[in-house]
Amino acid sequence: MALLGWLSLALWPLIFAASFAQTSTNATFDPLQYVDVLIGSTNEGNVFSGATMPYGMAKAVADTDSPSNQGGFTGDNSNITGFSVMHDSGTGGSPSLGNFALFPYSSCEGDIVDGCVYPKNSRKTHYVNESLKASPGYFALTLDSGVGVEMTTAHHTSLFKFRFPETDASGNVSKPLLLMDLTDLSNSRQDNGTVSVDEESGRMAGSARFVSSFGTGSYVLYFCADFSGAPIRDNGIFVNSRASTDVKDLTISRSINGYPLPGGAFVRFDRPEDGYIYARVSTSFISSEKACESSELEIPDFDFNSTLSDAEDAWRTKLSPIKITSTGVDDSLVTNFYSGIYRTMVNPQDYTGENPLWESDEPYFDSFYCLWDSFRSQIPFLTVVDPHIVSRISRSLIDTYRHLGWLPDCRMTLSKGYTQGGSNADNVLVDAFLKGIDEDVDWNTGYEAIVKDAEEEPFDWCCNGRGGLDSWKRLGYIPVQDFDYKGFGTMTRSISRTLEYSYNDFVIAQMASVLGGKQADVEKYLERSNNWKNLFRDDQKSFIYATDGSSTDTGYIGFFQPKYLNETWGFQDPLTCSNIDDNATSSCSLQNTAVETFESSIWEYSFFVPHDQATLISTFGGPSSFVSRLDYLHDTNITYIGNEPAFLTVFQYHYAGRPALSARRSHFYIPRFFSPTRGGLPGNDDSGAMGSYVAFSMMGLFPNPGQNVYLIIPPFFESVSITSPISNKTAVVRNVNFDPSYEAIYIRSATLDGEPYTKNWIDHSFFTEGKELVLTLGRNESAWGTRMEDLPPSLGSYEGFGGSGTRRFRRERDHSWQRPDLHVGGSWGL
Ligand SMILES: *[C@@H]1O[C@H](CO)[C@@H](O)[C@H](O)[C@H]1NC(C)=O
Ligand SMILES: *[C@@H]1O[C@H](CO)[C@@H](O)[C@H](O)[C@H]1NC(C)=O
Ligand SMILES: *[C@@H]1O[C@H](CO)[C@@H](O)[C@H](O)[C@H]1NC(C)=O
Ligand SMILES: *[C@@H]1O[C@H](CO)[C@@H](O)[C@H](O)[C@H]1NC(C)=O
Ligand SMILES: *[C@@H]1O[C@H](CO)[C@@H](O)[C@H](O)[C@H]1NC(C)=O
Ligand SMILES: *[C@@H]1O[C@H](CO)[C@@H](O)[C@H](O)[C@H]1NC(C)=O
Ligand SMILES: *[C@@H]1O[C@H](CO)[C@@H](O)[C@H](O)[C@H]1NC(C)=O
Ligand SMILES: *[C@@H]1O[C@H](CO)[C@@H](O)[C@H](O)[C@H]1NC(C)=O
Ligand SMILES: *[C@@H]1O[C@H](CO)[C@@H](O)[C@H](O)[C@H]1NC(C)=O
Ligand SMILES: *[C@@H]1O[C@H](CO)[C@@H](O)[C@H](O)[C@H]1NC(C)=O
Ligand SMILES: *[C@@H]1O[C@H](CO)[C@@H](O)[C@H](O)[C@H]1NC(C)=O
Repeated sequence: MALLGWLSLALWPLIFAASFAQTSTNATFDPLQYVDVLIGSTNEGNVFSGATMPYGMAKAVADTDSPSNQGGFTGDNSNITGFSVMHDSGTGGSPSLGNFALFPYSSCEGDIVDGCVYPKNSRKTHYVNESLKASPGYFALTLDSGVGVEMTTAHHTSLFKFRFPETDASGNVSKPLLLMDLTDLSNSRQDNGTVSVDEESGRMAGSARFVSSFGTGSYVLYFCADFSGAPIRDNGIFVNSRASTDVKDLTISRSINGYPLPGGAFVRFDRPEDGYIYARVSTSFISSEKACESSELEIPDFDFNSTLSDAEDAWRTKLSPIKITSTGVDDSLVTNFYSGIYRTMVNPQDYTGENPLWESDEPYFDSFYCLWDSFRSQIPFLTVVDPHIVSRISRSLIDTYRHLGWLPDCRMTLSKGYTQGGSNADNVLVDAFLKGIDEDVDWNTGYEAIVKDAEEEPFDWCCNGRGGLDSWKRLGYIPVQDFDYKGFGTMTRSISRTLEYSYNDFVIAQMASVLGGKQADVEKYLERSNNWKNLFRDDQKSFIYATDGSSTDTGYIGFFQPKYLNETWGFQDPLTCSNIDDNATSSCSLQNTAVETFESSIWEYSFFVPHDQATLISTFGGPSSFVSRLDYLHDTNITYIGNEPAFLTVFQYHYAGRPALSARRSHFYIPRFFSPTRGGLPGNDDSGAMGSYVAFSMMGLFPNPGQNVYLIIPPFFESVSITSPISNKTAVVRNVNFDPSYEAIYIRSATLDGEPYTKNWIDHSFFTEGKELVLTLGRNESAWGTRMEDLPPSLGSYEGFGGSGTRRFRRERDHSWQRPDLHVGGSWGL
């Protein structure tokens, strides 16, 4: 919208103030119109684009044969292999779930059952490009065969509405067949999948064991499928490419050739007058009876419209606490914003009542894929807009600890996933705790769980807890090539694990301090949170090597380096595994041969000291060197915004007293790297991590996760308001002199509830108490938020800032800091 382009700048505040009032009271505003669920469906976004409820277990979509089909559907015109009902969103790894696909035929050749093609690899087909329609709670397309498929979901149950054309491709009257395949996206089905079809009703029930995607286990999933809308002609089972109406029960082997033998059941129908046949599919981790119960309870009458409108209402309720004044801003940015928010609520999935592993009355959430990704902004985002869910997620994490002995790190399909770095459930729990999440959360057990992460090494630290704890406690770092006989995991990432463990220990100290009566713990974990210093090598340089063998000094000195058990230095090029490392031999993930930094470089990890930016800034030679390094990190593409460790680096200028540069940097990335198109995400969405990055950035408040801190930049809209679902109070960030061309993106001054506000950060009480932050913008960097007393809390003291250089930011240990609703002071006060 460029409607106001002709107005003089001076008039803008008046106009916007008026339009803000209008929009914020506009009862007809529907956020769903700004959700494009196909964002991230190509270009390895791996987003789930299908129909689901918020955190729903039922996730129905068309699956494709794309090599990047982790989310089921891909918007790249790949073939459709079937329509399945369980998915993850945005993950890497091998595709998760995608079980029990349906596939429709309008007829079988010669009207004999063997005239249909059963195996997934041969039946797959294109769809009519223009037929694709997807929106919250809804997904539809028409296959090249002319069969149309629409789908929507309740919490455990998916409802498909197939439309069969009157005649098939050869002009014969349609004789529809629907098959159900005992398959999944990764072809991981194990031995003895079963299916039975009831002759009378056509109801299919069964189960199979599948392998979890990025972890150590397997899971058994049960299903129940019912059909409605047309008379049943007959039914039966198929194996490989042959079928029979005489056989109603099948137990099938995986077979020995690696690709599970195709097998399943089918029902044939007479085509009804209107062509519509419905299939209702539920899954359960408990039993197929439980799946059938969910079906009957959730969608008793196969009512497509009411199921869809319930799903839409559920999404509307979730998104409606967030309102914006979009005047002057291109709609594509509004879509970017609401679609990002939408994606934060697809995973984790609420499997309460569906956990066969232990008996409990606590909620059970799954599909934490992985907390290494989601602690940084996704779950903190939910803490703002959906705190009830974060209470339930926290309870589930703690209950998982209670029954399995450890907090999860990565967890999917009832299995332990691979830990990528630290014990980052610690960060998730403490972030929620500090922000006052407390509906029925047993925080004492939560504290016990995070302390166990820090103190006890699990035998399988591949998949929970931490490794190398003896060295951690004795030497104060994770050595490269550690000697560790107590527990087992991939012996790499010694630098990034040292940095993450340091931060994990810091968050424990914070929780100990707030819980009270734990002074020894506070001191112990604060001490250990300094361990990052032990891997900093202050004479380490960094060169860029060209293919001709020449090298250029980046000019920066002092980087983290690996250190051996004998306390001598090892070496890793600070640019290895950076975004500009094109050495094909670099292994950057969980390979045995991988480097000492996980999925990123020493350069980027250099900034990962979220709790002590003050000391880090001094270590790097003061604020201007720190800023120069951050600029170099971004400007030379060493970092890549498509992976989560980059998130905080966009905003770390705040700590160097340059909040204006964070604002500028965030506009450098949005929309350039995040656009509302199918390929519009950088990297995998990672269960909504990218979505939350966009949402927080555009909202103008970015968390330093694990701390009660949001760094302030101007929102990308004239105003943003967020109503707390707990207090019902509405927090507002409003820009004065808002400039939709984003030239005036620098804060000149601010008020909080009418009082001058100079801190460049704010705490969570902003949201729960419904405060109003008014930011006056200009086209140039100003002095706002730049003084030492304006900077966010840091464990060490800020030094080398102009003006009041001797002034210590940090208060002496007064232990006065509290949870937000009890008013936090300006420093850690530890
Ligand atoms: C309210 O919002 C709807 C949908 O965005 C829009 O069509 C309508 O013009 C708005 N009404 C007012 C009074 O702003
Ligand atoms: C669709 O499947 C057909 C048959 O297997 C194959 O030839 C074609 O390349 C596939 N199309 C895409 C886009 O993968
Ligand atoms: C169409 O019907 C004719 C006549 O019954 C039959 O011979 C032919 O095989 C049918 N075609 C298909 C594709 O089933
Ligand atoms: C399919 O449709 C989409 C959206 O309408 C369009 O962007 C794309 O170019 C189309 N692809 C083909 C191959 O026609
Ligand atoms: C599968 O079923 C067969 C036949 O009943 C049985 O011998 C075999 O042990 C079963 N395998 C598994 C993994 O349960
Ligand atoms: C369901 O909704 C569609 C689209 O809005 C409408 O065309 C159809 O008549 C509705 N069906 C029923 C049974 O209400
Ligand atoms: C320390 O250990 C490393 C790795 O085993 C070895 O290369 C180095 O020589 C040792 N240094 C000393 C001083 O022992
Ligand atoms: C690539 O990395 C390997 C192993 O670290 C190293 O030996 C090799 O020299 C590197 N190649 C280039 C072109 O930098
Ligand atoms: C960084 O990458 C972008 C593309 O993402 C490119 O346009 C730019 O030139 C690169 N910058 C440098 C310094 O290589
Ligand atoms: C907030 O509003 C909801 C729904 O209207 C209500 O149930 C709840 O009691 C309110 N909470 C507070 C603290 O006012
Ligand atoms: C603001 O910045 C622009 C360049 O971005 C510069 O031309 C102008 O002089 C600056 N204004 C002030 C008041 O510093």
